[in-house]
Amino acid sequence: MHHFHQLKATKVSKETNDCIHIGFEIPDHLKHEFSFKQGQYINVRFVFGEEDLRRSYSIINAPSEDNPELEILVKHLDQGKVSTYLNQELKEGDLVEIMAPSGHFYTHYHVSNEKTYIGLAAGSGISPVLSNIKEALYQEPKSSAYLFFSNRSFVDIIFKKEIDELVEKFDGRLKVIFLVSREKHFEDELFEGRISAEKLDLLFQRFTDIPVQESTYFICGPSEMIKGISDYLKKEKKVPSLQIMYEYYAAPDEEGNAEMSEEFKAIPNLESMVTLIIDDDEYSFHLNSKKNSILDQALAEKLPVPFACKGGVCCTCKAQVMEGEVFMDKNFALTEDEVARGFVLTCQCHPTTNVVMLNYDV
Ligand code: FES
Repeated sequence: MHHFHQLKATKVSKETNDCIHIGFEIPDHLKHEFSFKQGQYINVRFVFGEEDLRRSYSIINAPSEDNPELEILVKHLDQGKVSTYLNQELKEGDLVEIMAPSGHFYTHYHVSNEKTYIGLAAGSGISPVLSNIKEALYQEPKSSAYLFFSNRSFVDIIFKKEIDELVEKFDGRLKVIFLVSREKHFEDELFEGRISAEKLDLLFQRFTDIPVQESTYFICGPSEMIKGISDYLKKEKKVPSLQIMYEYYAAPDEEGNAEMSEEFKAIPNLESMVTLIIDDDEYSFHLNSKKNSILDQALAEKLPVPFACKGGVCCTCKAQVMEGEVFMDKNFALTEDEVARGFVLTCQCHPTTNVVMLNYDV
């Protein structure tokens, strides 16, 4: 169920100076497996020599668009081997290993809804936010949306042309405010700077028609932005948590090293027999609770475990605890409901009982 497929890149175009826009062709026999929901992502894999590198990229498209394709945006990171390859080497016609879409950065839409959706995005965080906003506007003719989108400068605004076309297409139902953090805004200095709790407070004072407490929020950007804004919405504006959705694209730095956390230090030091169920096969190995994560040990044992970020963000390594108990350090991906049902991120897990069984097939 977590297999990579080779898909052909059919569109490779520069979006901005440091972002590439890539589209993939989905062959007929994979159409069902690659159907997606708004806000989901795909994992890509590249093997460079001995290194097996995996990255997650959000899908830009909305399922209800005419002829929805599978497209992603990849921002070039200076030290990023995969993003450098995709930005500088990938050509149309090349094959890329891709896993079927996953993730749950979305809400459910209904034609009778009359809601307000608010997208808060910074830089390449626009992809899953835009996908959700588009889907809401397509599926709910009586709903409207605001998009607050910050970039370094006007030339760096990602998807500017598409966003302008959407504003026209949805005729008054989509309002977009571009913010720039490293140059003057020609309209209003309120639109200068990054999106923060303080900035959002000022924006709400300006856009008084936004029903702040009743709106549904989609947030994607740097971790401090997500944390600051979601705390502000929950605590200051009393927005119910279920109306605030956010997607991290990297683990928050301040969370630090999992192996150094006080909670990790407090777990018992024991030897465990860990059994993993992967694609109906069972694999077992011994693991000390204070050593590797379960995922790292499984990789060391060369087991076919699914993974991507290894940072508790992407959810690719999700499994369900069938027997025993584990300690999970970071979790930026699983919902409260999933945790209550025994799902864990194996890249963040250490056994805390002598016998542990996890199932990746659920
Ligand atoms: S590999 Fe991404 S959450 Fe574990």
